[in-house]
Amino acid sequence: MTNSKNNTKTFKNLESAFAGESMANRKYLYFAKLASELGEVEIAKLFEDTANQETGHAFSHLELLYPKKEMTVEKLLEIAMEGELYECTVMYPGFESEAIQEGQLEASHEFKDQGQESSQHFELFTKAAKRFGVLKKVEKRHADKYKEALKTKLLTPM
Ligand SMILES: [Fe+2]
Ligand SMILES: [Fe+2]
Repeated sequence: MTNSKNNTKTFKNLESAFAGESMANRKYLYFAKLASELGEVEIAKLFEDTANQETGHAFSHLELLYPKKEMTVEKLLEIAMEGELYECTVMYPGFESEAIQEGQLEASHEFKDQGQESSQHFELFTKAAKRFGVLKKVEKRHADKYKEALKTKLLTPM
């Protein structure tokens, strides 16, 4: 998808719709597990079946967000790197410090752990991207951002 397309309301709406459907999928699978543990087999099955439909809905949105004909493996890795980098340098550190401020230690530990996992995912995607040849400009931009984050101690190096 071109950059101008990325800035449309529809692109943002597709992203939101994708997020909502993805969330519904995971939430209903979790509810299915709980319902089943509560002995409600039929309700568990209802949640499970609906969860599977939500996966279909989420994929339909993805097909419009990232059309197959516009994608290369480099692009896929780049998009994934961008997401993980955002999580480990911006999102989780921010969430962690807000949880600490509110005395929510369990949440703060979870944010910290998952931030570190995002950082590992970023490393793995970066490694994979390097296998696809030259360290391109975009990749270099990621690497620079990452180094910057390390410097400001937003990240724990592995
Ligand atoms: Fe849906
Ligand atoms: Fe991740």
